[in-house]
Amino acid sequence: MSLFTNKLKYIIFIFVLINFFWSGSILSMDLPETSSAVHLGVKTCGNSTCHAAKKPWQISDVLQNEYITWSTMSRHSHAYKTLQGKRSKRIANNLGFEDPTKIALCLSCHADNVQLNKRGPLFDISDGVGCESCHGGAENWLGKHVSGTGNHQDNLALGMYPTDQLFAKAILCASCHVGNSKKSVIHRLYGAGHPRLVFELDTYLNNQPSHHRVDRDYLLRKNHPKNTELWAVGQIINTKYILGKLSDINQSRDGLFPELSLFDCHACHRSVTDKIDLNEPLAKKLGIPRINDSGIIMLGILSQIIAPELYDDFQRGPASLHRATAENMEKVALIAKNLNKSAELLMSKMENISFDDDMSENLLYLLIESASNGLFSDFADAEQALMAIASSSAGITNNDSKLKKIVDSELNKFYELTQIAENFVPKDFQTHATELLYKIK
Ligand code: HEC
Ligand code: HEC
Ligand code: HEC
Ligand code: HEC
Repeated sequence: MSLFTNKLKYIIFIFVLINFFWSGSILSMDLPETSSAVHLGVKTCGNSTCHAAKKPWQISDVLQNEYITWSTMSRHSHAYKTLQGKRSKRIANNLGFEDPTKIALCLSCHADNVQLNKRGPLFDISDGVGCESCHGGAENWLGKHVSGTGNHQDNLALGMYPTDQLFAKAILCASCHVGNSKKSVIHRLYGAGHPRLVFELDTYLNNQPSHHRVDRDYLLRKNHPKNTELWAVGQIINTKYILGKLSDINQSRDGLFPELSLFDCHACHRSVTDKIDLNEPLAKKLGIPRINDSGIIMLGILSQIIAPELYDDFQRGPASLHRATAENMEKVALIAKNLNKSAELLMSKMENISFDDDMSENLLYLLIESASNGLFSDFADAEQALMAIASSSAGITNNDSKLKKIVDSELNKFYELTQIAENFVPKDFQTHATELLYKIK
């Protein structure tokens, strides 16, 4: 009997693994919000004998005070309360709704909005983005988990979400911070007052108050992707989201206009009394809104390191998309579909690649060189470039790296230049990059 259950467990485990590594299904895998397991609620995880210890435990593999970190330091525990505030009420009212805490549109990202029949007795929607929003409904794994007899693989086989795996992590965070096929922040929500979503996986993972400790036993038990790998896979997933939307014309329209959140915000939202720079050889902005191309540009840079054969596709991508927006939607969709295929290929490359210091240094160098060539001329591009620069520098594990030292000491200047979107001057960003390039050459 136990042989049989062990075998069954093994088969389920292999099945789960295959599911993750076959990219076709990575994108369509069940997220915590859509899986069939019941969510038992933060209270189930967060009592003092489990994950709500006042101080980290010394004798345990995990810290055991995750609940305290989450509830006192993470914006995720505040996400539902945000919906009770004045700003949210105004957003909802602008959209014609009474109460933002009652509509799926808001709850789908600001809480663990699983179906009513998937909520256990201690489940409380006001917990916001709780443990099970990321770790998955605990119905099937809690028993084994508290018995202390299982390991991480057992938990995964019983439906715990693999938050330590590169792709799974990227898809999870992006589902709320970028959007997915089921939920997104469309331009109407921005118009109603929602803040602009900005996301880069590695940066956001670092900004999230950490509730796990990466020590020797952690590295034995779990995957711990490098900063640069997180950046790369994050870019692929985020770009695939935009390309997917552009590929489907019906999904990406709003009345007379295409869905504007897919475009570069500051292509439209800037002063109409722009100063004309007579030193610019040619105006790049010809009165046609540009699709947000920051991700495609990044995939171009990434491809130079891991898949040079795909570089041409991504390098030509932005310009052909911009040209096509001035022609017709069908053409945009076709180009987006082709780019999505290249992104798919890049993704399968990433499954077998691990970044070493040389690769991270090359990436860092290419980013600065591209900035110096004026590749990041829109605010959203520059914002992403800066996060990419910081992330690839963090990806260099050798602290004596000269490149890393010089770049780190210049980061603040870049931050100053991108602090306020409305004040962004592409030329200044480019000039600073050129000065930096000179120093690292
Ligand atoms: C179920 C949706 C959801 C998921 C999944 C999710 N987030 Fe969030 N996250 C939010 C919301 C909503 C907020 C804003 C909460 C607020 O301020 O009210 C937020 C806020 C944050 C912030 C704080 C941002 C700031 O401006 O201070 C960080 C950092 C963050 N998330 C990182 C992550 C990372 C990393 C992941 C993946 C491991 C992730 N999030 C997964 C919904 C989500
Ligand atoms: C696709 C997911 C998504 C949807 C849908 C969504 N939000 Fe958000 N919202 C976020 C994320 C992520 C943040 C945090 C952004 C950051 O700081 O990077 C956020 C931030 C906010 C903030 C600012 C919080 C703060 O204090 O900084 C408000 C207010 C807000 N959302 C209200 C709403 C309302 C009201 C709705 C429904 C009409 C809604 N959101 C729908 C993901 C979403
Ligand atoms: C926004 C997503 C998110 C939320 C919300 C969240 N976690 Fe995590 N958690 C992660 C990520 C990402 C990791 C790191 C990867 C990993 O170890 O699986 C992690 C790691 C952990 C670990 C593993 C530590 C180890 O050494 O193996 C524990 C335990 C944990 N979380 C418990 C909790 C508890 C309890 C809550 C709720 C109070 C919670 N988490 C809320 C994303 C989240
Ligand atoms: C193709 C042009 C275009 C693009 C691209 C665009 N917008 Fe808009 N936006 C508009 C127009 C037109 C309005 C409505 C005019 C108005 O309310 O003044 C508007 C209104 C808004 C408003 C309300 C302004 C107000 O004064 O109340 C916000 C906020 C906003 N957009 C944010 C964004 C964000 C964030 C993005 C990028 C994700 C974006 N927009 C992309 C054209 C655009």
